[in-house]
Parts: sequence; C-alpha cells; structure tokens
Amino acid sequence: TRSEEELYEKVKEIKHKLGKRLFIPGHHYQKDEVIQFADVTGDSLQLAQAAAKNNEAEFIVFCGVHFMAETADMLTGQHQTVILPDMRAGCSMADMANLKQTEIAWEKLQQLFEDTILPLTYVNSTAEIKSFVGKHGGATVTSSNAKKMLKWALQQKQRVLFLPDQHLGRNTAYDLGIPLEKMAVWDPIANELQFEGNKSDIVMILWKGHCSVHEKFTVNNIEYIRKTYPDMKIIVHPECPREVVALSDEAGSTKYIIDTINASPPGSKWAIGTEMNLVNRIIKSHPDKQIVSLNPYMCPCLTMNRIDLPHLVWSLESIEKGQPINEIKVADDVKEFALLALKRMLENV
Ligand code: 13P
Ligand code: SF4
Repeated sequence: TRSEEELYEKVKEIKHKLGKRLFIPGHHYQKDEVIQFADVTGDSLQLAQAAAKNNEAEFIVFCGVHFMAETADMLTGQHQTVILPDMRAGCSMADMANLKQTEIAWEKLQQLFEDTILPLTYVNSTAEIKSFVGKHGGATVTSSNAKKMLKWALQQKQRVLFLPDQHLGRNTAYDLGIPLEKMAVWDPIANELQFEGNKSDIVMILWKGHCSVHEKFTVNNIEYIRKTYPDMKIIVHPECPREVVALSDEAGSTKYIIDTINASPPGSKWAIGTEMNLVNRIIKSHPDKQIVSLNPYMCPCLTMNRIDLPHLVWSLESIEKGQPINEIKVADDVKEFALLALKRMLENV
C-alpha cells in the first residue's frame, strides 16, 4: 500500500499529464482529501451547469454520487466519458423512488385527480425517474431553484407530484404560501395517498422519501442551541424536516449556506444543519466566526464519503493505462426524456 503522500503525488502527476483532457467536478460534501483536486466545486446545480459547459474534457471524473455522474453523462457529449471513482457511491434518497413504484403511483393518482398533475423530481433521483418525469411534461429541480421550478409547474397544472424528497417538496411549497393542509404524502410502500384535509384542495403530492443525513437534524438540536447560545443563528438545508426549518433562522441550498456564512461579519455565530464535510470546511475557513454543527454528533453522508483518495487514484490510473473503469452511461432510451426534464430546468434558471 502507498502512503497518502504518494497517492497525493500520483493525482498531481496524472492531472498534469492529462491537462485539459481531464475534468474533476467535486460536490461540496466530498472529503478534503478529494475536493482539493477538484477543478470545480459546487452544489448540484453548479456541477450540472459546469458539466454542460465543458465540451473539451475527454474524461470527467465525478467526485460526487451516482445520480450526479448520470446527470453529467447526459449533459456532456458522446466523445466524453464520465467516471465515478467508486460505484458504491449512491444516494439513499434517490433509491427511495424506483420506476415501477412511480408508475403505480401515477396510475392511482390519475384515477384520483385525472389530468391535473405535473411531476417534478429533485435531481437527487435516478435517470429513470427523471425520464418518467420528462415524459409526462415535468422537470428536474435542485435545492437552489426548487421555488422557481415549483412556480413554473403550478402555472401549468393544478397539482404537482414531487419526487423523491418530501422535505424539500414540503418546505418549498410552504415558502410559496401553500398551506400544509393542501399537501398530501404518497407512500410508495403502502401504495396510498395520506392526507388530512379535503382531497379536492390538494396541491402538493409529496413522495415519501428523505435524506438520511438531513433527517438527523432535530427540534431537540435547535432547542439545545437556543438555550446554550442565545445569540447564535441557525441555518439549515431544506432537506431537513419542516419543523426544523420552521424553527431555524435561515434555510437554503448548499451554495446558499456557504454564501450566507461568507457574507456574515467577523464575530458572527452560526449553527449549521448540513453534511459534516462541508460544515467542517466552513468552520476551518472562518476562524473569525463561532461556527458549530447543529447536530453535535456531526452528520456525514456515508455514500459521498466512499469517494476517497485511493479510489480517486485508482480511477485516474485506469485512464492513464487506457482502460478506464466505472464508466457511467445512461441508456439512450432513458436519456431522451431525462435530458428533456433537465433541460426544462436549465432553461428556467
Ligand atoms: P445541493 O447540492 O443541491 O445543495 O443538494 C444537497 C445534497 O444532498 C446533494 O446530494
Ligand atoms: Fe443523498 Fe442525502 Fe447523501 Fe445528498 S446528502 S447524496 S441526498 S443521502
């Protein structure tokens, strides 16, 4: 086995050798040992835009999770190869909605509401789900543009089916003034629609999925911060449950969180509710501010963390040898409509 130093030197050497033939996008939740080599860092939207813009790199080694690499594959040319350094870097939220379940849900929802629903899917979903959504006139959204895209959808249809994150869907709809009584939850395991108000009033149908990282931030965490640091502000990602967002001072995408902390004056105090690697990086880069994780046990995304320095080196060496591993290629029939859903978003933002 090689030392960390040797692995570090190897990445530098291959990056230098391949030059512009290689492009490494890195999501903000990636480990320091990986993100230091990223050519561009960003949230889901920024990385999708960066992939769409890069036409020259032959190899795109995506440091993020599987659905992001699929998106990069669909937004880049046939002459470009997208590689995920570890195939086990999936997303538990994306896995909470599969095509079969979505088709069953759609059929039942059409019986209940006829042709009054437009589907939207968070980009944190498989290419197959994006394709389903694209085929039925809908679009993808990210946490940066969910509000804008939900408005867009509600200009076309009376109701929206929002996949697969109930929390982002609920928080975004609430922000637009849709009351909780007008929201229902589709449970893909029980195959039923759960709601308390009037069926005819329903505007939002939320898929019962969640992020295992952001669900770990709780009302108890908020109460602890309020008691211990009364003048500290709380900022969370909208993948957190509604009650947590409601009790926080601010909520927004990964980029919004970074920008808000950057713009705050020295001496500011923040508790942040998002993924651990990003929170640690923000803490380190703001020694003049008091910053803590909203959940004191920190919340790592285990699948994001599967991309580590040894896997990055392994994938880069496979390119060097002319035998690239872990290629991510979305099938043409899936790509056709998934790309349509992505383009409807990218043209709107
Ligand atoms: P954003 O990058 O859109 O903030 O999403 C966070 C996330 O959970 C990515 O997997
Ligand atoms: Fe999926 Fe949540 Fe990890 Fe993002 S942070 S990749 S949504 S499990």
